[in-house]
Amino acid sequence: MILEAIVSSLSPEGNVNFAPMGVHILESDHKPEPVNSFVLRLFSNSQTYENLRSTGQGVINFTQDVAVFVETALYSKCLPYVPSQRVCPPSLADVQTLWEFKVIRFDDSIEPAFVEGQVEHRVERAGYGGFCRAQSAVLEATIAATRWQWLPKLNITDPWPMWSDIVRKTGGKRERQAFNRVSLFLMERGIQVAGVPES
Ligand SMILES: Cc1cc2nc3c(=O)[nH]c(=O)nc-3n(C[C@H](O)[C@H](O)[C@H](O)COP(=O)(O)O)c2cc1C
Repeated sequence: MILEAIVSSLSPEGNVNFAPMGVHILESDHKPEPVNSFVLRLFSNSQTYENLRSTGQGVINFTQDVAVFVETALYSKCLPYVPSQRVCPPSLADVQTLWEFKVIRFDDSIEPAFVEGQVEHRVERAGYGGFCRAQSAVLEATIAATRWQWLPKLNITDPWPMWSDIVRKTGGKRERQAFNRVSLFLMERGIQVAGVPES
């Protein structure tokens, strides 16, 4: 499963950086068990890549505020932050959930680099666990399915491969099963849309 989060990191000169990144976690590591390690896949043109490679520490910040994703991804905005407890990079102010981490493996022989992080300290308020793109894809597919009688079929079958791809790449078991239920519903009504593997 991939959760979308904001990674904070520090350059060797001490500049704070925020950027959205996908956080890959093992299904068995997810709730109810706390996540102890995760993987980032970082393209080498990002500041986050440079910072994690040189300073080896960061914070995964989970926020529901989509504006934070836009501002940090596209405008390199530095947002209000607060000190961390176990690592040098600060965390975003006012986030519900954060994981302070140390890099335990940085494999730059592949692109995007494979970066494994070990959680050193966590704050989890209000049980918020982060965005997963598969969840929005399942919602979009479900809304379209509720309109199958009057929506042109193409409005469902055209975006279907995109939704299916997102669910296959970023969804956990629950998202994949839910997506397949939408597929079944539509197939039973004569609309041919393929499901995704569930494991
Ligand atoms: C939701 C979302 C997820 C992203 N995931 C990744 C990712 O997993 N790996 C990556 O290299 N870039 C990812 N990006 C793109 C980076 O956030 C983007 O290139 C950013 O400008 C990098 O900022 P930086 O140079 O300050 O690190 C993602 C962007 C968004 C909006």
